[in-house]
Amino acid sequence: MYPGNNPNEAVNILDLHFIPLLTEQQVQARVHEIGAALTARFPDQKPLFISILSGAFVFASDLIRAFKSDCEVGFVKLSSYTGTRSSGAIQTVMGLEKDLRGRHVIVVEDIVDTGRTLHFFLNQLQLQEPASICTVTFLRKPEAAAFPVQVDYVGFDIEDKFVVGYGLDYEGLGRNLPGVYQLSEQG
Ligand code: IMP
Ligand code: MG
Repeated sequence: MYPGNNPNEAVNILDLHFIPLLTEQQVQARVHEIGAALTARFPDQKPLFISILSGAFVFASDLIRAFKSDCEVGFVKLSSYTGTRSSGAIQTVMGLEKDLRGRHVIVVEDIVDTGRTLHFFLNQLQLQEPASICTVTFLRKPEAAAFPVQVDYVGFDIEDKFVVGYGLDYEGLGRNLPGVYQLSEQG
């Protein structure tokens, strides 16, 4: 069931029950704050936003529109998740075609869970000698950070519970929810 116009309504996706965590308004306000901070930090550098697919595409699309100066956008596809658990191995399913040498790169991630995905990707990125690397994540689960990665901007720090919405999915579903919902322990 989808939450019509009531952001306080829970949602069911397949076999799981999710309760509201962040409203669309909270999300949008925070994304605009980060956009303003990035605009101030990269006023004339034409940064290249690199969105990690699939989850970060919703956040990235709002973030680049909250960035009020010239910028470019690229995409990479990495994947480490099946169901509600990280599978361990990272795969690069689709790489970047752009030359990163001398570019100011802003990596956009949906969520840093163990940090494995970002850790893996940042290592790859360094090899291409960008002028600078800035990292932005919409969500972060601090207690789960097994891999040390530097994140420059965090939308929201959340509990170590599975979430959907605003690009994040459960078995491919829930990405189109404008707010964020957290797995309910009640089932
Ligand atoms: P990490 O490599 O463990 O940091 O996991 C990062 C990736 O796992 C994210 O880019 C997400 O695609 C996925 N992920 C982690 N936690 C969640 C969650 O709560 N809901 C949906 N996807 C998640
Ligand atoms: Mg992802």
